[in-house]
Amino acid sequence: MATETITITDNRTGKTYTLPIEHGAIKATDLRQIKAGDEDQGLATYDPGFMNTAACKSRICFIDGDKGILEYRGYPIEQLAGTCSFLEVAYLLVHGELPKQGELDEFTRNVSNHTILHENVKQFMTGFRYDAHPMGMFVSTVAAMSTFYPEAKNIHDPAVRRKQMLRLIAKVPTIAAFIYRHNAGLPYAYPDNELSYTGNFLNMLYKITESKYKVNPIMERALDILFILHADHEQNCSTTAMRSVGSANTDQFSSLAAAAAALYGPLHGGANEAVLKMLRQIGSKDRIPEFIERVKKGEGRLMGFGHRVYKNYDPRARIIKQTAEEVFSVTGKNPLIDIAVELERIALEDEYFIKRRLYPNVDFYSGIIYEAMGIPTEMFTVMFAIPRTVGWLTHYEEMVTDADQKIARPKQLYLGSGRRDFVPMDKR
Ligand code: CMC
Repeated sequence: MATETITITDNRTGKTYTLPIEHGAIKATDLRQIKAGDEDQGLATYDPGFMNTAACKSRICFIDGDKGILEYRGYPIEQLAGTCSFLEVAYLLVHGELPKQGELDEFTRNVSNHTILHENVKQFMTGFRYDAHPMGMFVSTVAAMSTFYPEAKNIHDPAVRRKQMLRLIAKVPTIAAFIYRHNAGLPYAYPDNELSYTGNFLNMLYKITESKYKVNPIMERALDILFILHADHEQNCSTTAMRSVGSANTDQFSSLAAAAAALYGPLHGGANEAVLKMLRQIGSKDRIPEFIERVKKGEGRLMGFGHRVYKNYDPRARIIKQTAEEVFSVTGKNPLIDIAVELERIALEDEYFIKRRLYPNVDFYSGIIYEAMGIPTEMFTVMFAIPRTVGWLTHYEEMVTDADQKIARPKQLYLGSGRRDFVPMDKR
């Protein structure tokens, strides 16, 4: 018997049950033995949106939402963002430990070896309309890649999974850059593997006719920080999609396309795009109070505010706010930052937001930096998807190698009609 237990009395029958508690949770299947009668299928929990249901055990990412703490593999996000490169953090997430120099060099080499896209992927992408939404293109292109690497179906082979992981981490910046170029009507720029992960991405976005693109080190570092902050965030909507789709033994490309589709939504990764649209709509500081009143009346949300887990300042938002100043030293100030800072100040003093513990989240300031870097608003969620690819793949790996995991298949509480006989058309 477990040392920690809970005893439940079913007031319908007067029976008591003692259930083990492990890691602060009871097993939902242990509730099945609690029945009101022979026909009863057993007690279930009802939890739309998984507000209090753990669907897995995980060792990747820790969040304490009340204290505003985020850690990857135990390391505080502030320390990682302050010192590491994005690929160093990617290695940490994937392998569980920080790399030694030789290990990082090898990982970097392996990623660099896979940055090029098959020419047919490029041709496939040219089929999109000139104004196609970047996330629609991203989701479809990632899904299409499963047809280029059919061996990805062998999901129980660790070497195959590892290869697809490297491919995806390496190729998502190339896909993103091609999407940008497609919408801008520019010729696609191929990867330059002598550059860093983020330096190469900037090169593929902005290289025009120069033989060697010169990466601005401040922009490169800022992008590394932004990518680190977005690399993982435990069981959010898109990671849950990755795990759920992957639980059917679906390959990494197709599962990742599903995760990216979940990220697209404005309540999730699509919020960074929505924040920018909101700030532009507000237009000037004097119109903020009127906007806040509309939000409080339920006429829309303050995008970039609130979080399912954080009931305190999102630590990523704090770091992004600092990074913004560094980017502005190169690009000039984005005037929207003044509206955002004032909006944050007013909201954080307002009873509505205080009572509901609504604070700025990662998306509140990220778009302002991306805009200053010259990235179009519609691309913002793609900018989120590039680094989150590492988190999604790490969770996929953990899920596939976890003996507890089964195909995702939630229960429902059926409230529809009881059994009834079919009525022919002329009698309805
Ligand atoms: N503006 C105004 N009111 C809000 C907001 C907001 N941004 N967020 C939550 N509320 C209110 C909500 O109306 C509700 O009030 P009441 O209790 O009176 O009905 C209360 O706060 C609780 O909200 P909820 O929708 O039940 O909370 P949730 O945990 O289900 O939703 C959320 C979390 C992130 C979807 C939500 O806060 C939201 O819609 N925020 C705006 C979108 C956004 O910024 N999303 C990015 C999240 S962080 C990055 C990521 O995940 O990609």
